[in-house]
Amino acid sequence: MDLFQKCRDFTRADEVKAAGLYPYFRAVEENEGPVVTLEGRPVIMAGSNNYLGLTSDPRVKKAAIDAIERYGTGCSGSRYLTGTINLHNELEEKLAAFLGYESVLLFSTGYQTALGTVSALVSKGEYVISDKENHACIINACMLAKGGFAEFLRYKHNDMDDLERVLQRVPDSAGKLIVTDGVFSVSGELVNLPDMVAVAEKYGARILVDDAHATGVVGPGGRGTAAHYGLIDKADLTMGTFSKTFASLGGFVGGPERVINYLKHHSPALIFSASPTPASVAAALAALEILETEPWRIEKLLHNADKMRDGFKAMGFTVMDSRTGIVPVVLGDVERTMLMWRKLYDKGVFVNAFIPPGVPPNLSMLRTSYMATHEDEHLDAILNVFQEVGRELGLIS
Ligand SMILES: Cc1ncc(COP(=O)(O)O)c(C=O)c1O
Repeated sequence: MDLFQKCRDFTRADEVKAAGLYPYFRAVEENEGPVVTLEGRPVIMAGSNNYLGLTSDPRVKKAAIDAIERYGTGCSGSRYLTGTINLHNELEEKLAAFLGYESVLLFSTGYQTALGTVSALVSKGEYVISDKENHACIINACMLAKGGFAEFLRYKHNDMDDLERVLQRVPDSAGKLIVTDGVFSVSGELVNLPDMVAVAEKYGARILVDDAHATGVVGPGGRGTAAHYGLIDKADLTMGTFSKTFASLGGFVGGPERVINYLKHHSPALIFSASPTPASVAAALAALEILETEPWRIEKLLHNADKMRDGFKAMGFTVMDSRTGIVPVVLGDVERTMLMWRKLYDKGVFVNAFIPPGVPPNLSMLRTSYMATHEDEHLDAILNVFQEVGRELGLIS
């Protein structure tokens, strides 16, 4: 059988495109933040992870442009060799101080951070233990560790009793890493870190929290999940991304100096991949400074998300609860979700359609997310369009 036969047999996406319901790979032609241009017309963006609204901030843009002028467009090498510029070191130091970790290490994306951290830390005979609903990059990171002969175990979503049951099966003497999303990326739910810490301490396990959707949103000053619970000294490692609140591209992991130093010298995803570009690092540095000096952005983001959560609920939609920028509207059925997505899009609102296998069966949803720069006029327009389309499809009365 030809290796490519499965590719020719895969026609599902073409069928959905032919039906006019395909929501993916839509090209944004201009991006002003809350409003983008798609197919030549303005559309309200209610699906971006640009939570603090900084991708179009003039200060962030200028920092990126200045960095290109000084350092050029790329680093042309890995951090290990010729690809380190002083902006990388500056961002690592500032982020470590902000998060309250001894050291921070940058990677080129959040995805690579997960691969590079978990697979370098958890080796043959050691155990990585993951929440079943962690982000795909964590699951793939665990698979990579497993490929290096580590043991990969999973526990029921955010269920610390099940985590304990899993840990009971692990030999006392083995090194153990528990990995969890801080804010789960689909639902916006927060991990139960206090109970996780108690279980981890009982079984001698270390904890890695993925704060991709939490840094800049959750905890005092946006310092993330561990800070939210006052447990910064108990979450051994926290990783995150610059692709969301930091309005850029890249990833990071923070932790004890000795561990970060080890990763620097043992992580193939760091050593064999080019470093983040000068523009990306400078943009993230500028965003970090804004995050620290303009706390109103977090308050406004949470206020906006609360308003939308309440608004959708009042109309009769099923909404998942959290205190983050993520507001998922659960529709259940795949066809209904795709149809509603298309109708919203036609009426000028862009959201994300999440269907299996990205979500469990019967949990298809429109994942909406908000920015600090959404104003009431944008939010009210989104609510009105949801109401109109929801009624048209008979989903609400
Ligand atoms: C929880 C989580 N971790 C990691 C990532 C990956 O980050 P990046 O976009 O920087 O690769 C994402 C991005 O979608 C995410 O949601």
